[in-house]
Amino acid sequence: MDGVPCLRVPQCHAQQFRECLQSNGALDRSLSLLKESDETVLLPILPSCLPQFDLQSFQTMVASDGACELVWSQTPLQFKKDRGQTRGNKLETILQKLLDSHGERWTEELKKDLPHSFQRHEDLVLLGESCFSQPLWKKMDKQLWSTVAKALKAKRLAKMSRISKDGFRSPVVMMLLGEHSWVTHVDNGVKYEFDVTKCMFSAGNITEKLRVAGFDCRGETVVDLYAGIGYFTLPYLVHAKASHVHACEWNPDAVEALQRNLKANRVSDRCTIHQGDNRQLKLSDIAERVNLGLIPSSEDGWPVACRLLKRATGGILHIHQNVTSPLPNSTAIPAINDTAQRFSGRKADREVWQVWANDTANRITSLLKDITGTLWKTNIQHIEHVKSYAPHVHHVVLDLECRPS
Ligand SMILES: C[S@@+](CC[C@H](N)C(=O)[O-])C[C@H]1O[C@@H](n2cnc3c(N)ncnc32)[C@H](O)[C@@H]1O
Repeated sequence: MDGVPCLRVPQCHAQQFRECLQSNGALDRSLSLLKESDETVLLPILPSCLPQFDLQSFQTMVASDGACELVWSQTPLQFKKDRGQTRGNKLETILQKLLDSHGERWTEELKKDLPHSFQRHEDLVLLGESCFSQPLWKKMDKQLWSTVAKALKAKRLAKMSRISKDGFRSPVVMMLLGEHSWVTHVDNGVKYEFDVTKCMFSAGNITEKLRVAGFDCRGETVVDLYAGIGYFTLPYLVHAKASHVHACEWNPDAVEALQRNLKANRVSDRCTIHQGDNRQLKLSDIAERVNLGLIPSSEDGWPVACRLLKRATGGILHIHQNVTSPLPNSTAIPAINDTAQRFSGRKADREVWQVWANDTANRITSLLKDITGTLWKTNIQHIEHVKSYAPHVHHVVLDLECRPS
């Protein structure tokens, strides 16, 4: 894996999460925690603990309102013994010198305007949107960016503004320094190449990508309805050894990256890309498995997924959804140290997921009947918790087995 596995937690609950990780033996004590600019903190986790890591139970053990997620930090977390001259204050010192040489004065505003966190993609550093916004920086221009790159030990520099609302979740990223904007990520032995100015790397689905990598799909035809740059398509091909994956994607930039990634991982011969809206897909009756990896909901893809399943033998649908639990009555919010109550909070979330899964199973059963004209049985094999967005919004995946009856 590229980067350091971390639990991203709200700053107000960081201490409780740290203690909880430590008592479970999952905290990497050789590394310092990292404060992010958005009031969250990254707590380093021992990679050896990842396979058994239960995100949901950590969240509920600590605080019912403490959303947390598993991420891979591309920012180098400091070894505790290396504290002293940090990269942050190195950048500050170097920039102070640059300002001096331009006859400008260092101010608190400029200090606050320095990047607090950034993503590293090989030799490219991607800065967040809330830095270098002071007008004075513009005067330095090219010299500024080469100085920043040198201080951060990078050759290329880019800056994020926000995720665009063009329907493709394209990042709005500007290159500040460097010839090209393609980068490579190696994640669980899979190579992902993409253009940082056109596609974003979805680092938040690590646990689900690992789970998919653990499937045994030999002899199976899989359809990935929302392939992106290959987040799930590639683990299905490289690790799960699917015989063939049909990858649907309508964003041409993501398709370009997907083509490169299939080649880079030498699996192009087992994948067919269908560029365009998956609801118009002409295929049917071919799949043992359909992946519906779109949040907040993949409901638009349910009819096509049902059509794709093999009529004679059926298969498994992996249905992603953001499920929202009702917020508890504020007078009933459990105290932080009341473990029993917190576990009942977790139970309540699971009950909501189960209700959603039952309803989804019923709706898929009738869709299958409508589409094929025959009766089907569905069976909830598993509900996987991927990530929590807000205290009560959980990204879950339902593994739904569908068989003709
Ligand atoms: C956010 S990505 C998710 C990729 C991956 N499944 C993941 O979870 O990391 C969703 C992808 O689905 C694509 N997409 C959304 N709706 C689509 C549709 N109707 N047909 C084809 N592609 C679609 C988007 O362009 C995007 O690349």
